[in-house]
Amino acid sequence: MAKVLVIYHSQQFGDTKSLAKALAEGVRDAGVEAEIISTNERCITLDEFLAAGGVALGTPDYFSYLAGTIKTFFDDIYLWDKSGESVKGKPAALFFSHGGGGRVREPFEYLADKFFDHVGETVESRRPTGDEAKQKCRALGKELARKLK
Ligand SMILES: Cc1cc2nc3c(=O)[nH]c(=O)nc-3n(C[C@H](O)[C@H](O)[C@H](O)COP(=O)(O)O)c2cc1C
Repeated sequence: MAKVLVIYHSQQFGDTKSLAKALAEGVRDAGVEAEIISTNERCITLDEFLAAGGVALGTPDYFSYLAGTIKTFFDDIYLWDKSGESVKGKPAALFFSHGGGGRVREPFEYLADKFFDHVGETVESRRPTGDEAKQKCRALGKELARKLK
């Protein structure tokens, strides 16, 4: 079965990274392969995106918006779509970390809904990341994996 890409940006404290790891654990618990990709380290290629069965996307709230590298990922999908690639409709789970504002939810879900089949409820975590948010991410990972089966 195709794997899940867990794609995230994390830079300040590692909050979003810990959510990404919990979500990937949930995917694996459900018997599906998960690959964690930090957008601080590299971009997602078209070929690996097309091969994925689903994605999980995580960002910190930066000025009530997505981190730049995650926005770039959405820009890439838009351009792939415009060039005729079949990129729309994959199942996707969303999660984000914030410092008390959390207004990134609206633009994040708006962009995701353009390209993905949004799975479950977006997990929101006010930093510092606690066990409850990690458990929610783990459950969301399981829900996403079940969508692939
Ligand atoms: C440049 C920058 C802008 C931020 N803007 C917001 C914001 O608008 N609202 C908010 O709630 N938190 C904001 N934060 C706080 C981060 O969202 C929060 O610390 C988050 O948990 C960091 O995640 P990370 O440790 O994965 O990088 C901002 C942090 C940075 C570095």
